[in-house]
Amino acid sequence: MTWPLEAFVEVDSTMSVGRQRAQTGAEEGTTVLAERQTGGRGRRGRDWYSPDGGVYMTTVLRPTRATEELPQLALVAAVAVREACAELGAKAARVKWPNDVVVGRKKLAGILLETFDSTVLVGIGVNRNERGDVDLDRDLALRFIGLGDLVQETPDRETLARAILNALELRYESWLSGRFDQILEEFARFHVLSGQRVVAIGDDGAVEGKVAGLDGSGALIVSTQNGKKRVRSGEVQFVRPAR
Ligand code: BTN
Repeated sequence: MTWPLEAFVEVDSTMSVGRQRAQTGAEEGTTVLAERQTGGRGRRGRDWYSPDGGVYMTTVLRPTRATEELPQLALVAAVAVREACAELGAKAARVKWPNDVVVGRKKLAGILLETFDSTVLVGIGVNRNERGDVDLDRDLALRFIGLGDLVQETPDRETLARAILNALELRYESWLSGRFDQILEEFARFHVLSGQRVVAIGDDGAVEGKVAGLDGSGALIVSTQNGKKRVRSGEVQFVRPAR
């Protein structure tokens, strides 16, 4: 493990601290880890519930790749987080395009990318607590699962963060050297949406159909009544409710 890890008790968001570190010349891989966040940020402007006991981390990357390829890092991070959670006992962890780690229909971890200049901040939030140990409102209770619900012994925060960083560093190196195909293979192996009927809400509107897989750029391919549609970014909902 070579990436430096800086641990805090409380921050507003590790994305803000990561950005400060990046702007003052932090080396690639510098990671900020917090025990709780007072202003945790999720995708699409949502909040990220960040009580004590979760893992909240942001890694500063400076990839030498074309701007249009940078969103692929969300998939790189998702497979890394899945692998780290599985290694620590959560064998049922799967990925959900574009960048969630889930068990069934419930979310175990989320990933947020922020890009500025030639820097990418990879933010990772993992629910480490057991469901019963956190205060969940009704809506969150339907979607939340924690590592503590899945393993016999919950790993401590730093063990989990280091396992994620190790997995991320390996895959990041492989992505940098042009092996995104390997990331896609791993993603496909653990993809919870494969063959499922979904509604994908992308930047060009909603697309309904069956997930046929991902293309070489990481876009989601959905077979619809009007042929195959490519969704480059967005959110996906299952059409059939969970049983
Ligand atoms: C999502 O909406 O699924 C993405 C959630 C990302 C949350 C993480 S927690 C660490 C980092 N700091 C934040 O404020 N957000 C990300």
